[in-house]
Amino acid sequence: MSASGQMKLGMFYWPGGGQHMAAWRHPQGIPDFDVDIHRIVDLAKLAERGLFDMFFMADSLSYWRGPLEAMSHDASGAWIEPMAVMATVAQHTQHIGLVCTATTTYEQPYLLARRFAGLDLASGGRAGWNLITSGNDTVAQSFGHAQHVEKSKRYKMAWEFAHVVRGLWQSWQPGAFVRDKASGQFTAPEKLFVLEHAGEFFKVRGPLIVPPSPQGEPVMVQAGASDEGRELAAATAEVVFAAQQHLENSKAFYADVKGRMAAYGRDPDSLKIMPGLAYFVAETREQAQADFQELQDLIDPVMGLALLSNRMGVDLSRCNPDDPPPVIPDSPRGGSRAQLVNQQIAKNPGITLRELYKHFAGARGHGIVIGSPKDVVDHMEQWVSEKACDGFNMMPPLYPRDLQRFVDLIMPELQRRGLYRTRYEGTTLRENLGLRRPAWPVADKQPARRVA
Ligand SMILES: Cc1cc2nc3c(=O)[nH]c(=O)nc-3n(C[C@H](O)[C@H](O)[C@H](O)COP(=O)(O)O)c2cc1C
Repeated sequence: MSASGQMKLGMFYWPGGGQHMAAWRHPQGIPDFDVDIHRIVDLAKLAERGLFDMFFMADSLSYWRGPLEAMSHDASGAWIEPMAVMATVAQHTQHIGLVCTATTTYEQPYLLARRFAGLDLASGGRAGWNLITSGNDTVAQSFGHAQHVEKSKRYKMAWEFAHVVRGLWQSWQPGAFVRDKASGQFTAPEKLFVLEHAGEFFKVRGPLIVPPSPQGEPVMVQAGASDEGRELAAATAEVVFAAQQHLENSKAFYADVKGRMAAYGRDPDSLKIMPGLAYFVAETREQAQADFQELQDLIDPVMGLALLSNRMGVDLSRCNPDDPPPVIPDSPRGGSRAQLVNQQIAKNPGITLRELYKHFAGARGHGIVIGSPKDVVDHMEQWVSEKACDGFNMMPPLYPRDLQRFVDLIMPELQRRGLYRTRYEGTTLRENLGLRRPAWPVADKQPARRVA
């Protein structure tokens, strides 16, 4: 929670007509929502009316998240490149932060730094970069690599990448752009710092040819949850998107990541931890539950079985959804995800494959809350007050219906309890998050010198 005692909120936009995997099949679902920029802009404007800190768009650099048969039933195969979306949204909004994903494993730091700095300027200081290392190994093939980079190397690259990007973003100190018509001087050379980086993976000479925005530089966001991801977040992130489903796990995650920050000389308040939260809200609990069931019943068995196959590490695509699940011993291939499935089977004797995939499909691994506005806000308040998070990345199951319900039903209750802003505090994303521009000890940043 921020110093003001109020929580931070993101609107998590994932293509598919809504965050629920069956959203596009719902009677009110819009199957081509994600390739219609006007609809996406309207969604972001609605999030701004809901005073969200940020509109966050995820990204993927590979279509392949499963076999062809499953992908042919997956609506998230169609989306517009996020930077194009963000730049468009920037022109139709004034306050909301604009955060999107980009990978450190297959991109180049100079290009990425320039792109996000450009969005930051174009939006008046509202950009944020969600740093990922690409968990999906089929991304490798989009870039001509036979094998995905192995995880510890991906994170080593990410550290260096983040360091270079930060160094480039800090090329121009405040006041560096003089633009004096009378004298003819455009920039002040003493305010230019030139990154001269030569590391294990990247060799980059600055400066960046983009001046700083009103918030100085884009906000650093991170979505990794492994030990390596937590360490990188503790060192560099200003926002962490987490995916904890249970209060106790989230409290442990929160304490762990914030506890690691002291080693980097950072104040725990300079990082906001925001787990994803899927919500079904209606005037009554019964209606919210009915809305949930309606979407759950629309989950395509092809998708459901693919999800379980992925989690259990076996191919279930030919199984009848009404049969019981096969007994799969916990194995290193399935890992902790297979264990969770086995626990669910053990707790529910007689469970069918359909019931099992519905259990796991509801919020794609994130937390979920179903109920009246009071129920939802009770949940949010408890998590924030018990230091499980600083806010949430809200996941409306169906666009735009459920975002509208956030604005009409959840926001007033949050505000009534003093848990949420009644107007934007600042004009930049960092101001609204209550964060200061971070100092960055870039060791190889050199004052500009004359080049022969
Ligand atoms: C809220 C949230 C958003 C994420 N967004 C993306 C995304 O846009 N693209 C992507 O490939 N992975 C995304 N991820 C996955 C993470 O990058 C990462 O692979 C995952 O959290 C596992 O962490 P690890 O890499 O540290 O093991 C996201 C994760 C979370 C929790």
